[in-house]
This record gives sequence, structure tokens and C-alpha cells, in this order.
Amino acid sequence: MTDSVRIAGVEVTRLRAMAAREAKRYAAARPKTRAALDAGAGAYLGDVPMHWMRDWPMPFPMLVKRAEGARLTDVDGFRIDDFCLGDTGSMFGHSPAPVARAIRRQARRGLTYMLPTETALEAGALLNRRFGPYRWQIATTATDANRFALRVARAVTGRPKVLVFNGCYHGTVDDTMIELRDGHTHARQGLVGQVEDLSLVAEAVEFNDLSAVEAALAKGDIAAILTEPVMTNSCMVLPQAGFHDGLRTLSRRYGALLIIDETHTISSGLGGYSRVHSLSPDIFVAGKCVAGGMPTAVWGMTDEVAARFAEYDAHRPSGHSGMGTTLSANPMQFACLKANLAEVMTPEAYAHMEKGAERLSAGLRRVIEAHRAPWHVVRVGARVEFICAPGPLTNGAEAATAHQPELEAAIHTALLNRGSLIAPFHNMMLVSPVTRKRQIDRLIAAFDEILTELF
Ligand SMILES: Cc1ncc(COP(=O)(O)O)c(C=O)c1O
Repeated sequence: MTDSVRIAGVEVTRLRAMAAREAKRYAAARPKTRAALDAGAGAYLGDVPMHWMRDWPMPFPMLVKRAEGARLTDVDGFRIDDFCLGDTGSMFGHSPAPVARAIRRQARRGLTYMLPTETALEAGALLNRRFGPYRWQIATTATDANRFALRVARAVTGRPKVLVFNGCYHGTVDDTMIELRDGHTHARQGLVGQVEDLSLVAEAVEFNDLSAVEAALAKGDIAAILTEPVMTNSCMVLPQAGFHDGLRTLSRRYGALLIIDETHTISSGLGGYSRVHSLSPDIFVAGKCVAGGMPTAVWGMTDEVAARFAEYDAHRPSGHSGMGTTLSANPMQFACLKANLAEVMTPEAYAHMEKGAERLSAGLRRVIEAHRAPWHVVRVGARVEFICAPGPLTNGAEAATAHQPELEAAIHTALLNRGSLIAPFHNMMLVSPVTRKRQIDRLIAAFDEILTELF
């Protein structure tokens, strides 16, 4: 609920007073960070090495000195409980020991060869064991994995379009940078240098709306549905009962492939949401944390899709495929992938994550109820989010309305000043296999203190 005096139930004057005080507190406590940024940040466009680092809510970025387990230490010496965990890249903790060992070992043997290794073969077998029997390819980012998966889908179906859900994010895949406005597909308004008409290659409908999915598929020009099992890149939206079955049935009926992007929902449990909930995608995609934080993504297709692609591949003119990148599938990625799949992404690790995330979501829910805030909490395995609106949300349009940037920014800075870092873009928290109970309890206590002031 937003009106002139309240945002999501919070009085705006009270919110702004808190935001100003917390920003000042953050800045005053970090003289070394400020001085280092003043001396060195000017080398970068916009003073940051990646433009989205400006999207953090603090008055200036935190400079990290080191990270271990689920904790960061900044250059001013603050030790911060890390629930952002690199927005899933470090979901299994910072530098998991088996991955760090694998890096040390591989560092003595070369970093990139453009040739496979025996470790690559072992990693392939582990991918099958963890995620299911797919024919795999390795990329460096999940963005690339999705781009390449879409190429295969278009190649084998001979169709031009991808169907995505309004509010989705699948990395910076150009074709998916669309939104629904006035019931029509448009390029997102903030895109930089966008010249193509994306509605020629993509269509957006609302999540949980199987009638809209069917209407889009019935036009006959959709090569693939690309979706996360849960919408995690907006305020989180869970699939309604029957939605995934419906997607599977409809995609088969209309001859489109189903691509499930598990880059975030790998938080769901061993094998990702697809394994935990018995989904059967044609192409499975995961990235970010799959090699323990070493830039790596994996995408695998079923035998059936692989056979169709082989047939296509045998008859296409030789030359560039549009799938690649020189440093992908390098031996360092495989060393980390093998170590992570075999020794880090274990049933025991997921059991700890699940238990911790349940403790966190229950604690946040208790606080929200105690303060009678019109908010709710959603959890997908190790991934927890508080949403400053009543729930559950059913689609991207509702998620966009629920998002409260001013309020959320103030809460994030206030949490950081109390020792807990959560994801900057929305209110997402991850519980890793090395996150401690006391870190979770500290976050819940800080949240309570903040809501006590806000309400
Ligand atoms: C669901 C999903 N897919 C793909 C990506 C892209 O990952 P990357 O930034 O590693 O390319 C993201 C990034 O947030 C994501 O959330």
C-alpha cells in the first residue's frame, strides 16, 4: 500500500528519518573505505568496476578485504554476516575448502587450453548424477548458457520466438529483456542502446497464467518457453499448483521446448527445483554457484533434443555457430565444478541450508506478525525473502507493485549497520552450508529492531 504518508504501512517521515540516520552512520563508520574510494575509484566509469555496484543502497560501496565462510570483512574492519552471498554465486559459502584446494592444484597445471581434461569427464558424470541425464555444455555465465540454449531451441524447432514471463530475469540475454505493457510485449524501458524490436523474437505473458501461455503457443511461432521454476528476480512469486504441469503439457502440445533456468532455484535442494519437484525440462540451465563461485554455467539437453540438434548440426553450413566464448570449458572450471558437485553440494549441505532458512523465515515471519506489518515472507529452500506487501504474489505485475525501493534501501542499510548484508536488488537472503545459527538470529534481531522503529 502506497499513499502520500505511508509506504507499505510505514509512515514516510519516520522512514526518511531512519534512512538519513542510517546512511550517515554507515558513512561515518568507514573513513578508510571513503579515502580509498576517493583515491582509486575514479579509474572506473561511474566510480565502480560494474555499473550495478551503484545499486547498493549505501551512500558508497563497501570495499571488501576478505570473505570466508558466510562472512565478509571490509577495509574498515567490520565483520559482516553475508546473506547476499554474491546473489547466489557464493551460495555454498565463500571459497569452500574443496574448491579452494582444487584451484590451488589446477593453478600449477595451466588455466586454459581449449582442450578437455579427465577431470572434465568426471565432472560430466557428476552433472548427470546431480541434475539428471542431460547432454551437457559448459559456459562461463548463466547469461551465455541461456543464450546458447535458445539458439538450440530455435535451431531444432525452426521457430523465432522465446516465451518468457513478465518480470523475469535470465541474465542479459537480449531477447528476454522484455515486459508486458498494456497487454503487449515491449523492450524494457531502461535498456541501453536497444535498437532491435524485441517483440519480433520474444513474447511475454504473466507467470501462473496458463491461458495466456496457451494463447501465445497457439500462434505457432514459439521455439521455447524459458522460465525459472519460481520467479526469483522480482519479489518472489511461487508457482501455483498445476502451473509447471501445465507448462510441460502445453509446450509438448504446441511443439515448443521447455527451458528451465535453475540459476537461483538451485537453492531448492539437491538437483535444484526440477529434481525436488520432478519437473522434466527439455533443457536445464544452472550457473553462478555450480562450481563453487568460479565463473561457470552448465546447460544440458535431453537425449531427444540432443538427437534433433545433431541432425540440424549435420546439415548446417560450416562456420560460426553463435555459441562459444574462448575461455569457456577451461580446466579450472572443471576442477572447481568437480570439487563442488562431489564435495560441497551434498545432501548434508542442503539439509543445513534448509534448516537454517526455515529458522530465518520463521523468525522474520514472527517479527512481521508482531509488528502487524502488512508484509510476508517467501522461501525456496535456502532462499528467503521478505516482501513489503501482503502475499502471496501471483505474477510479475503484482511483484513490481510490491517492490518498495525507498523502504527496502533504508532497511538494507540499517541491517548492514547492524552487521548483516542482504541482496541489494530486493530483500533476498541465502543460507549457506556454513551459515551459523547465531548469524541467523542476529539478522532476525536486527530486523526486529528496525521494524520496531518503523512501526
Ligand atoms: C535466473 C537467472 N538466470 C540467469 C542469470 C544470469 O547469470 P549471470 O549473471 O551469471 O550471467 C541470473 C542472474 O541473476 C538469474 O537470476
